[in-house]
Amino acid sequence: MQPLVARPSDVRLIGRSEAIQRIEAEIECAARSDAKVLITGETGVGKEVVCRLIHQRSARAQSPLVTLNCAGLPDSLLESELFGHVRGSFTGAHRDKLGLLEMAPNGTVFLDEVGEMSPRMQVVLLRFLETGEIQRVGADRSHIRVNTRVITATNRDLQEHMTSGAFREDLYFRLNVICLSIPPLRERAEDVPLLVEYFLAAYARQHGLAVTSVSPEAMEVLTAYRWPGNVREVKNLVERTVLKAAGSAVRQSELPAEMLRALSAQAAAAPRGPAGPRIAAADELSSLMLDHGESFWSAVHPLFMARDLARSDLRHIVQIGLERTNGNYRSLVHLFNMPATDYRRFLTFLRKHDCQLPFQRFRAVAARLAPADAVGSDTRAGAARESVAFGD
Ligand SMILES: Nc1ncnc2c1ncn2[C@@H]1O[C@H](COP(=O)(O)OP(=O)(O)OP(=O)(O)O)[C@@H](O)[C@H]1O
Ligand SMILES: [Mg+2]
Repeated sequence: MQPLVARPSDVRLIGRSEAIQRIEAEIECAARSDAKVLITGETGVGKEVVCRLIHQRSARAQSPLVTLNCAGLPDSLLESELFGHVRGSFTGAHRDKLGLLEMAPNGTVFLDEVGEMSPRMQVVLLRFLETGEIQRVGADRSHIRVNTRVITATNRDLQEHMTSGAFREDLYFRLNVICLSIPPLRERAEDVPLLVEYFLAAYARQHGLAVTSVSPEAMEVLTAYRWPGNVREVKNLVERTVLKAAGSAVRQSELPAEMLRALSAQAAAAPRGPAGPRIAAADELSSLMLDHGESFWSAVHPLFMARDLARSDLRHIVQIGLERTNGNYRSLVHLFNMPATDYRRFLTFLRKHDCQLPFQRFRAVAARLAPADAVGSDTRAGAARESVAFGD
């Protein structure tokens, strides 16, 4: 495995939340010294971005920044990557090899996923941090001292790892001189619109497409979503969207069905109250049926039966549908992607849970909006049929 040597680039930390402002200040502070930095945070929050910014703004900026991901490498390989090896030290070691720590003289080494290091490698790293001496694999003594700044990152809870004995306390305190903790995106939702706009413009430029805009409703959905993959997930979604939208505005209906589903489940589970971003389960669930072809029985029914969806939400969904069908319940069955034979079952379900809305008021609106004979015969016939079905 090859360590990554960073090339100069315009790395930027986009965001305006208090958290981002605090991190910017911490980056400036970390850049002024040579102290070790431990960067923590969930996957995709920007740990590597922060490391690059510290390096770029430090006195070491003209020297290399090299990155090594410690996860998934067997000890022997990790040790050889970090410290190098001498010829003949193991099968395949045909010549002496320089280690990563020597490849960044006066520079910075970024050890990513340091929480994954084995207990043996933790000892080896600790020894290096204490002495600054490099002993290549297969050598009987150290051969050089290097001036390299070490920055580490992890998405693990190292405190927990220390309690369980999986991570050494002495190593933790060595690495954690400056601790920079990046909160997940869901805790700084005000950064989402900025990130979306930034990546929209960046990908449009990269793919030579017109810059796409996002409708206010779609942006509301994006801001309310929990983003388990954090900024990386925003970036990937925006790139896909830019390619698909090719210049036109992105509407809520064009967002991925999984996102709308996750959001409606999230909204249904959230405590109700005025605090927090507005999340409308009914809108997202309606969009799943109207724009993504999901059936009422799979998108709405299970949530309602599990009491994850309030009666008022179900009524709102029925209302959204009836507005489209001018109050026609048979058309509603079709609109919500159910077979026509489910008509009675659907009405019984709504009646049982007190969610049948009187169709007349939707007819009245339709009649006001449309010329008399355009709505005429169809709705009158539908009204007669449904009066029977509702028994009213
Ligand atoms: N605030 C930000 N502004 C602009 N881009 C960002 C920001 N945060 C993250 N990114 C981008 O998101 C992607 C993921 O960031 P990064 O690789 O730094 O995450 P990470 O925390 O190191 O994730 P992992 O734990 O999975 O390694 C990168 O492409 C990065 O450029
Ligand atoms: Mg990373």
